[in-house]
Amino acid sequence: MVKLSRFALICGLMMCASSPSEAHGHIEEGEELFEQHCATCHGVDGDGNGEAGQDLMPPPANLLDAMQKRIVSDEYLMWTIREGGRNVHTDMPSFEERDTIGEAEAKKIIRYMWHAFK
Ligand code: HEC
Repeated sequence: MVKLSRFALICGLMMCASSPSEAHGHIEEGEELFEQHCATCHGVDGDGNGEAGQDLMPPPANLLDAMQKRIVSDEYLMWTIREGGRNVHTDMPSFEERDTIGEAEAKKIIRYMWHAFK
């Protein structure tokens, strides 16, 4: 019994020690993915001023503003990344069509966006 609880304690300590850095790792991965797939238009800072978005009409969204909207949720962001602008007539690419970002990667990007832009 004593042994078991000591085991539980050590496991508990290990989880405490490893989970924050693991979460941090996800955010860093999300940041890299964002820079690779989104920053070209939305800008590294999310302000919508990326090079590739300069001639688009409407211009890429300012994500710092977008993330404050009440409609914006994980589901909304997942839908936006998957569908892009094909339903709403903007030049946001559909990453489902392009097949460049899978669901797991999209989740990491979304996590990063909450962390960086909210
Ligand atoms: C080719 C340029 C381009 C790329 C690349 C791009 N977007 Fe967009 N994005 C746009 C445009 C244009 C809009 C439409 C803005 C509007 O409706 O006023 C938009 C809209 C959005 C919106 C909606 C904001 C709102 O208020 O509803 C979100 C969220 C978003 N983009 C996230 C992303 C993410 C995440 C990525 C990367 C996975 C990405 N975008 C890549 C151009 C781009």
